[in-house]
Amino acid sequence: MNVTLKVNGTTVSHDVEPRLHLADFLRENVLLTGTHLGCEQGACGACTVLLDGDPVRSCIVYAVACEGREVETIEGFDSDETMVELRAAMTKHHGLQCGFCTPGMMLTARDIVKRVPDAGEQRIRQELSGNICRCTGYMGIVAAIRSVLAERAGVTPRAKDASRSKSFPGVQRTERALQDE
Ligand code: FES
Ligand code: FES
Repeated sequence: MNVTLKVNGTTVSHDVEPRLHLADFLRENVLLTGTHLGCEQGACGACTVLLDGDPVRSCIVYAVACEGREVETIEGFDSDETMVELRAAMTKHHGLQCGFCTPGMMLTARDIVKRVPDAGEQRIRQELSGNICRCTGYMGIVAAIRSVLAERAGVTPRAKDASRSKSFPGVQRTERALQDE
């Protein structure tokens, strides 16, 4: 079947098997390998891309179902203002190690920043629950997102939801790290 869609603003068209999922389409037909594949069952979030602006797991979306639609992958956010802020924050807070989860994590993080600007730590962790990271323990990732939200809101993150931190082991260390900045 032929499928035509926009990827990062460019129209692409390929003949594909109807069963081809969007992640393989992006990696093998469009040659954008920033979208990673982990579980291929919709569980880990490594393959997250934006479809018409919403995060989706590209391993459980058929490429042919994206006919006429707009897909954005991690490669499409080089100069995106929110992603620039998140990249700096992830670096500062050591939010990645091996980096395998990072493309999907960044797209989810950007969605949180744009959609839930008042998210506290607990809400951020809930929003991130569909993106699995096996390296970082999430502390740096959460701290990075919190710091971007706090900077945008002009507040200090630790004061905002310190009371909600108790249910997450290790969060106090994050609070102290943020205080120390
Ligand atoms: S590879 Fe798609 S959710 Fe894990
Ligand atoms: S940084 Fe390695 S899986 Fe997240």
